[in-house]
Amino acid sequence: MKHQANLASAVQVTDLNSDDCRTPIISLDNVGVTYPNGTVALSPLSLKIEDDAVTVLLGPSGAGKSSLLRSMNLLVKPTVGTISVRVGGMLDNSRAVREHRRETAMVFQQHQLIGRQSALQNVLTGRLGKHSFWRTLLPLGPDDRRIALECLDRVSLFEKALVRCDSMSGGQQQRVGIARALAQQPRMILADEPVASLDPASSRRVLSLLQQICKEDRIPVVVSLHQLEYAREFADRIIGLSGGHVVFDDKPEKLTEPVLKKIYGA
Ligand SMILES: Nc1ncnc2c1ncn2[C@@H]1O[C@H](COP(=O)(O)OP(=O)(O)OP(=O)(O)O)[C@@H](O)[C@H]1O
Ligand SMILES: [Mg+2]
Repeated sequence: MKHQANLASAVQVTDLNSDDCRTPIISLDNVGVTYPNGTVALSPLSLKIEDDAVTVLLGPSGAGKSSLLRSMNLLVKPTVGTISVRVGGMLDNSRAVREHRRETAMVFQQHQLIGRQSALQNVLTGRLGKHSFWRTLLPLGPDDRRIALECLDRVSLFEKALVRCDSMSGGQQQRVGIARALAQQPRMILADEPVASLDPASSRRVLSLLQQICKEDRIPVVVSLHQLEYAREFADRIIGLSGGHVVFDDKPEKLTEPVLKKIYGA
């Protein structure tokens, strides 16, 4: 009997650490976020993110989209609940969290690029996590430069590799941000309002790039948006948040008027 119990727990541990595609890339189990000032940003929720899907988080300002996104790489530490990932298992220790962050790329609204540096130098920063701290004190080598250039090519900015980022348009800068995320060779991409400050043409270009990366490389993308039309166009799954609660979780086709009222209020 005892032997069987040991075997069962061994199997569970193997599953959590496997690269088996049936295990969700990330699972949140009763995860909730309350900030130190007492604001409840997320009521406890459970969800799993699958491969090959663009998941869009929708909701009014303050609904908890950024808190949910940031809890997925523990930039915001959940106050309750547990998070486990396919490779690494439970994120309950600093080593697992560090490893998970290395494997999770973030794309931000304000790109967070170093303006006076070239696109290539910015994209190369996506490679830093692949090396030991001491190695990063020296210039990165030809392999890293080749990967960074390939990533710039992927976002159609190969020709701009040596151009300073602060002389590029907002859309181009965001594409550099995506190239930097790609250079990290991540298992998952989290994008917090990546098109908030872009015109419609640049927004569509950025979102279709993220969608293409998701489908071609099987990297799940979780993205928060304020624009319904983009959510409908690019999402495989929409999670609607209101007041820190998930009030909708389904395919874009199911996003009807009554559902929108539930998410955004009357
Ligand atoms: N660092 C923080 N400290 C305290 N409260 C916070 C903090 N960050 C966010 N909040 C609060 O938590 C709630 C959820 O905020 P969050 O930023 O997750 O919402 P959001 O859906 O991303 O909003 P927006 O669309 O404006 O970006 C809000 O009430 C917000 O004021
Ligand atoms: Mg936000």
